[in-house]
Amino acid sequence: MQTEILGNAGSIKQQGNVLIIKSREAEARIWVYSPSIIRVCISRDYKEEGSFAVIQEPAGKMDITESGNEIVVTTSAMQLRISKSPLRFNFYTAEGKVLSEDDPRFGVNWQDARVTNYRKLIADEKFIGLGEKTGNLNRRGSSYVNWNTDAALHDVNADPLYKTFPFFIGLHSGLTYGLFFDNTHRSYFDFGATTDEKMSWFGADGGDMNYYFFGAQSVPQIIEDYTWLTGRMEMPPLWSLGYQQCRWSYMSADEVLDIAENFRKEKIPADVMYCDIDYMDEYKIFTWNKKTFADPKGMIAKLKAMDFKLVTIVDPGIKVEKGYKQYDEGVAKNYFATYPNGENYVANVWPGRCHFPDFFRADVREWWGKSFTALTDPGVEGFWNDMNEPAAWGQNIPWLVKFGDRYMSEARNVYGMEMARATYEGTKKILGNKRPFVLTRAAYSGAQRYSAVWTGDNSAYDAHMLLGQRLVNSLGITGMSMIGVDIGGFTGDPTPELMVRWNSLGVYTPMFRNHAQEGTIMREPWCWGKKNQAIIKKDIEQRYRMLPYLYSSFYQSCQTGMPVSRTLAINYTGDENVYDVKYQNQFLFGDAILVSPVESTKFTGEVYLPEGDWYRLSTGEKFKGGKAITVPAPLTDLPVFIKAGAIIPMQNVIQSTAEKGDGILEVNVWYGDKANSFVYYEDDGASYDYQKGVYYKREISFDPEKHEITLSKAEGSFTSKYDRVKLVLHGFKASKSIRVNGKELKSKDFSFDNDNHIIAVIY
Ligand code: GLC
Repeated sequence: MQTEILGNAGSIKQQGNVLIIKSREAEARIWVYSPSIIRVCISRDYKEEGSFAVIQEPAGKMDITESGNEIVVTTSAMQLRISKSPLRFNFYTAEGKVLSEDDPRFGVNWQDARVTNYRKLIADEKFIGLGEKTGNLNRRGSSYVNWNTDAALHDVNADPLYKTFPFFIGLHSGLTYGLFFDNTHRSYFDFGATTDEKMSWFGADGGDMNYYFFGAQSVPQIIEDYTWLTGRMEMPPLWSLGYQQCRWSYMSADEVLDIAENFRKEKIPADVMYCDIDYMDEYKIFTWNKKTFADPKGMIAKLKAMDFKLVTIVDPGIKVEKGYKQYDEGVAKNYFATYPNGENYVANVWPGRCHFPDFFRADVREWWGKSFTALTDPGVEGFWNDMNEPAAWGQNIPWLVKFGDRYMSEARNVYGMEMARATYEGTKKILGNKRPFVLTRAAYSGAQRYSAVWTGDNSAYDAHMLLGQRLVNSLGITGMSMIGVDIGGFTGDPTPELMVRWNSLGVYTPMFRNHAQEGTIMREPWCWGKKNQAIIKKDIEQRYRMLPYLYSSFYQSCQTGMPVSRTLAINYTGDENVYDVKYQNQFLFGDAILVSPVESTKFTGEVYLPEGDWYRLSTGEKFKGGKAITVPAPLTDLPVFIKAGAIIPMQNVIQSTAEKGDGILEVNVWYGDKANSFVYYEDDGASYDYQKGVYYKREISFDPEKHEITLSKAEGSFTSKYDRVKLVLHGFKASKSIRVNGKELKSKDFSFDNDNHIIAVIY
């Protein structure tokens, strides 16, 4: 094997919006996408192939100067200084502070098809990101592989898992940068794990050294830039934010209906039931089992009458069976993955011998998308895409397998996303103006445009619960916001304590779904004894109370890419304590709710509160931040804190998101000494009309100096489902007058509740 290291620059020319530098070994191309995003692509064999992840074109102004050994690309936000001999790529802030530099010795190099970039490691450099990866929040000292895998029975250190997000953020010297390595081959990231703390490196088994460098100087801005580049999610259907009940499998329509009925009987709010693989006839995708699900339309009508939506699973494997529509059509039209001689590839998954659709082709995606009428005709509105790494028993799909011209080696990491894309595009077409809900297990950067994700087959023990939260937090850095974990743990049986605790954390998980493997004990909220049922019910009710806040937080994700569940590293980047392994699972849920996961075996929690004042949600007790505190954490009370100054809109408890409720929007404000505001957002929760201005948006702000709360005039043409606003003021002094929208609240306008909160109703 030969190692080739990128050598000296030869010809240098600017061609339109691209700067091309040739060397003996390769060609480097540089584009400015925006002032804070520069793309570098170093290739031995450049072909403009387009990206699965990136949806933008280079649009930034490129200012190039050349002097001595250096070419400098300057934007208003950053500089790329390229040394000519040898060719090395070094990034700086606009003021010239080092963000990240190539290792001068090894830079970019090749060993056969494998391409790697070695970069200098800075003494205090930390790394966050890479999406669904185990390990610590700070990835310094760890290495990772991206190779989408059906990671059944994985332990809490397993790598790789199901998804590939080759994007990380580097933090050092009070500075921030991001790097997205847009290469779908098996890829590697090493954050100083194996190089004597001298270098970090990343590379792939093939393809180009093609990366986007982000120079914005804050983590939220880098996330905004990354999601500008790779896209943002659409508003999720409101029902998908309710409680979701799943199991592998509810074995018949009767069982599905019984479970749904029981939620209503027990008055435990819920919105979604799932059908896992057993609703199908012999696991044939787009079929229903004629005996156990004889009348899907009737079943779904009954579910609808109870205000439930149904989500059904689909896997990519199409059963090899003559007479089965999808098989016959796929074979006739050559829609499946093949060997190089054109033979259709066969591997075993649930249905037995299967073929795998080539989702990279537009015509195959369209065909796949149209097949969903088998599910949408009876009334399904949610589509769960599983086993799309793709999974096959034995895992090792041969390198010879191809999707068109694309071999497994470059297709694998992006296959699942293309399946989710086909599902999303197809069901969106069928459902017309209704938002489909798509959920996928495998993904690549950009998947947020098509689908929600969940973290796959976790297990029913505490360390997995904590890991799940870290995965959610980390996925949030890489553009994903609608994320679930199997609440309770997929494999194994949780103890009642774990079930209760995990459910209370699920309240603060963007997608709240209880799911379990076949053969495990039943998991529904009433399976844990009356006392536990009451706790679970109360926690789920809390989720429903927070829906106005949660929906507004998703609006933020759609606008700026800011995830709903945020590692504290996003807002408190410079605070060393947030990376401490003791506190690294903590997160902000939306702007203002801090949640500290606690194991089910511990009944006190050690919580780190960042700077500022905080109130415990359950007790109203006020704490000074910037330090760790130890608080009681019985199973009835997960440590959840509200940031001083927070504005959190809530509503009364409803049994499903289809229920209108009492029409009162309860605006909770926690006293703080800094001014704050919150963008309240609402729309019909179901259609795309919001994209045409049919929404209701207003800013709610609190000014402690003026002791004033202001609700701005609503923007948009939607009529809010709430016709009254009730202000609930926490931590305010009753003796001081409060102004609302310029008017002084008189004592006759307000009252006190049992916890001494000031209540004022504004009609
Ligand atoms: C996979 C999925 C799991 C599902 C099961 C059966 O293991 O990850 O969620 O229940 O397949 O479809």
